[in-house]
Parts: sequence; C-alpha cells; structure tokens
Amino acid sequence: MKRLHALLLILFVATTTGCYYDTEEKLYPQISTGCNLTDVTFSGTVSPILQASCYTCHSNSNAASSGDGIRLQNYSDVLVQVKNGKLMGSVKHAGGFSAMPKGGGKLTDCEISQLQKWIDNNTPNN
Ligand code: HEC
Repeated sequence: MKRLHALLLILFVATTTGCYYDTEEKLYPQISTGCNLTDVTFSGTVSPILQASCYTCHSNSNAASSGDGIRLQNYSDVLVQVKNGKLMGSVKHAGGFSAMPKGGGKLTDCEISQLQKWIDNNTPNN
C-alpha cells in the first residue's frame, strides 16, 4: 500500500510539473510582457513616446528656449538625433551623453526597446 502511494505521488508530480516548454512568454511575448515590439511605427509608437516625455523641451516651439535647439517633433529632426547616436545614448543614459528626459524619470524598458526596434527596422516614416 505504501508503495502504491509513492507510485501515485511520483505519477502526480510527473504529470503536473511535466515537460511543457511552450511557456506563455514564448507563445505570446507581447501579452505577457505588455510590450509590443511587433507593430512599431513612427506615428503610432515613436512620436507618442517623444510627445509624452520630450516635447516639453524638444517640440518645435519649445526647442529653442528649453531643449538646446534640439527638435524631436518632425521625422527628419528625429532622424538627425538617431544618426548621430544621441537619441539612444541619451535615453539609455549611456556614458558621454546627457541623460534624458532631463530632470525626469528614465523611459521604461519597453519604451527604450520600442525606440531601438524602430531604429533596427531602419527608422521607417510610417
Ligand atoms: C526639461 C527639458 C528636457 C526634457 C523633458 C528632455 N530634454 Fe533632451 N535636452 C534638454 C536640454 C536642455 C539639452 C541640452 C543638453 C543638456 O543640457 O543636458 C538636451 C539634450 C538632448 C539631447 C542631446 C544629448 C547629448 O548628449 O548631446 C538629446 C538626444 C535629447 N535631449 C533627447 C531627449 C529625449 C529623447 C527626451 C525624452 C525622452 C528628452 N530629451 C527630454 C532638455 C530636455
């Protein structure tokens, strides 16, 4: 009888812990992490991030007075800061760059990943 209990226990552990490797994160990356890296666009992703965290100083109208003349509103202006490496350097708080947003909290890991994804996709103007 004891042996049967032991056997049942082993069977139970084996079937419930199992060997199932299709974890939720792997099957549904954007649902479980909440970070959408598949539909990253300039208008729908990049612009809203910059608008929320950077326009107070870097919009077309505020750049001269508060953003050291750096504009992050129009696609072509954002591209300049991508190509010189300063956009990602500043939001990642990398050495040698001014940490951005200035005086505010760092962007979330998801936002930084989305900006990086857009750059990796060759900065489409979409
Ligand atoms: C409160 C105002 C303010 C906010 C908000 C702000 N910036 Fe800045 N930013 C500045 C100023 C001022 C400078 C000039 C350098 C300095 O003073 O550190 C600057 C410089 C920069 C530079 C050049 C960095 C370098 O190392 O040369 C980049 C790129 C930049 N900002 C991007 C951003 C991005 C992206 C955001 C939003 C995530 C942002 N900034 C938010 C004020 C701001």
